[in-house]
Amino acid sequence: MLLQLENVSKSFGEVRALENVSFVLNYHEIVGLVGGNGAGKSTLIKILAGVFPPDKGRIYLEGQEVVFRNPKEAHNHGIYTVHQKMEEILAPHHDVTANIFMGEEVTRPLFRSFIPFIKVLAKREMEKEAEEILSRVGIRIDSVRRPIVSYSGGQRQAVALARAIRKKPKILLLDEPTAALGVKEKFQVLRLIRRLGKEEGISIVIVSHNLEEVFEVVDRIVVLRNGQVVGECSPSQATKERVVQMIVGGE
Ligand SMILES: Nc1ncnc2c1ncn2[C@@H]1O[C@H](COP(=O)(O)OP(=O)(O)O)[C@@H](O)[C@H]1O
Ligand SMILES: [Mg+2]
Repeated sequence: MLLQLENVSKSFGEVRALENVSFVLNYHEIVGLVGGNGAGKSTLIKILAGVFPPDKGRIYLEGQEVVFRNPKEAHNHGIYTVHQKMEEILAPHHDVTANIFMGEEVTRPLFRSFIPFIKVLAKREMEKEAEEILSRVGIRIDSVRRPIVSYSGGQRQAVALARAIRKKPKILLLDEPTAALGVKEKFQVLRLIRRLGKEEGISIVIVSHNLEEVFEVVDRIVVLRNGQVVGECSPSQATKERVVQMIVGGE
């Protein structure tokens, strides 16, 4: 298996957000993480993303124990996240290229022969690469020079995904990636996620409360309730009704 959480617990003061959670993500697998509000889904994603460490428990990547003290350390292991509130990571008044490359701008020497140590932004190169990634993403962006604010929710989500894909992730963590989208955009983003998983071989954890889309896109469903894993199933073998029962508890 690619990634494994073993008996992970995490509390915020009195709130036990996760309690003894074990979780596996296999190579080339898309896992849907479902559960009601406050079930612990985002907390699980944040632990995998290095946002904060667990209070207890271990994380293994390709069989080796890993400790992520911050998101950068998770990135170094090929783990990238598109968080629930993507607006937080995008700079709305900067253009699409700037957002895709933020913090990792490509530079080149100003005068290669004389003073190679004076660097300028390689704007054309970045724009070209941004266009290439976006065309792979398959969602239409008219111009990479237009600010993020001028685009729709689905297009912004595509930019956030393009930003993550550019890093060539091994593992992509998506927290409610379609929550803010219209029906048509939802469909486009889901198709993209499926393609990233199946054609580019990226392993994906997708958090969603929309069971229709979970059943559409994932290979396996893991259900959290009150900070615990209460069940798992394959969408080809379980019904939505059964999954709803697991989410809310009871029969
Ligand atoms: N930073 C935080 N500080 C305090 N409590 C938090 C924090 N993050 C999450 N929680 C609490 O932990 C529980 C799980 O939250 P979360 O993982 O966001 O659930 P979900 O994403 O499934 O809705 C909730 O009770 C939530 O209020
Ligand atoms: Mg959440």
